[in-house]
Amino acid sequence: MFATNAPTQPISPDKIRSSIQALQSDLVALRRQIHQQPELGFKEQITATRIASKLTEWGIAHQTGIAETGVVAVIQGRKTSPKLRTLAIRADMDALPIQEANDVPYKSQHQGVMHACGHDGHTSIALMTAYYLSQHRDDFAGTVKIIFQPAEEGPGGAKPMIEAGVLKNPDVDAIIGLHLWNNLPLGTIGVRSGALMAAVERFSLTIQGKGGHGAMPHQTVDSIVLASQIVTALQTIVSRNVNPIDSAVVTVGQFNAGTAKNVIADTASLAGTVRYFNPNLADFFHHRIESIVAGICAAYGATYKLDYIKFYPPVINDEKITELVRSVAVDLVETPLGIVPECQTMGGEDMSFFLQEVPGCYFFVGSANPDRSLAYPHHHPRFDFDETALATGVEMFVRCVEKYCN
Ligand code: NI
Repeated sequence: MFATNAPTQPISPDKIRSSIQALQSDLVALRRQIHQQPELGFKEQITATRIASKLTEWGIAHQTGIAETGVVAVIQGRKTSPKLRTLAIRADMDALPIQEANDVPYKSQHQGVMHACGHDGHTSIALMTAYYLSQHRDDFAGTVKIIFQPAEEGPGGAKPMIEAGVLKNPDVDAIIGLHLWNNLPLGTIGVRSGALMAAVERFSLTIQGKGGHGAMPHQTVDSIVLASQIVTALQTIVSRNVNPIDSAVVTVGQFNAGTAKNVIADTASLAGTVRYFNPNLADFFHHRIESIVAGICAAYGATYKLDYIKFYPPVINDEKITELVRSVAVDLVETPLGIVPECQTMGGEDMSFFLQEVPGCYFFVGSANPDRSLAYPHHHPRFDFDETALATGVEMFVRCVEKYCN
């Protein structure tokens, strides 16, 4: 079925495309199986077992149980010289705590858990890329490592996988990854050098005032009034402290206080999220939030407890690898209009940890098709994508491998 002779010239893109198109029904079947059995972060046992059994069936070397449920496959291409490159491909495997509202034959069978972000698609794309490459080992030189990562939606599987050594032995020279993206229409690819996705930080704040009678505020320290001033003051971080050239968000998403109409609340709690692109702001928001909170609490005689978590750093794409991905994408979508450079999002991704270690590129594959009602946003109970995008994902990966490794 497949050519195995070492190529004397580059493989024709048409040949690659038709071989991948022939895998489309397998891709869809695989994606639907994974979709029906979604699992939350670090619990991807069924998914990991499915991946491992396919890799075994196809004779692909792999390791399981990395950072709990992670799987890494290694595909050796031609050995033409002792100094060959290793390219890693990363896919996330986890689902979300959402009850699926789609009425489709492949609907989630796990109560309250759903692949509402497309990671079922990412896993299928990476797995079929492994299959394709294993059948075409003579078409590329060097090594491809495919990283199936748990817990992207949280608490984060990329960092523990790196700590477990997935970028070593053989040492990874560059990494690529993709997200099926319903913010872009089918047939487009979002590629951008530099910051693609934002850093994600989270905070929880408890203010301890002094409760009392609603008619006698002079005997109290009103935690609601105080917390309200903090909410307002936090809005000045982006508007007055961050350089307007930089994009950033400070959102207070939770405000809880009080038990009765005529009681001044003893405590108030706030929680929120911070997003930014510029890595130089890595320590800025935590310090600024803390000083605003400390100042306002001191002024009113309250105390506070602030928990601040730096969840994921920003996703920063390497210029050279992005250029390679862009050149493949331009060829693949066959029209410059299909490449979308304005694809930045304040959403976050722990692909960023891999990109901090090795140069790479994370890109978006447009997967929305409103004509088929496949355009709900990510993390929505009716999220679904156009499965035609699966083959595009495989083609992008395969052609990036052949370009990078030859
Ligand atoms: Ni996602």
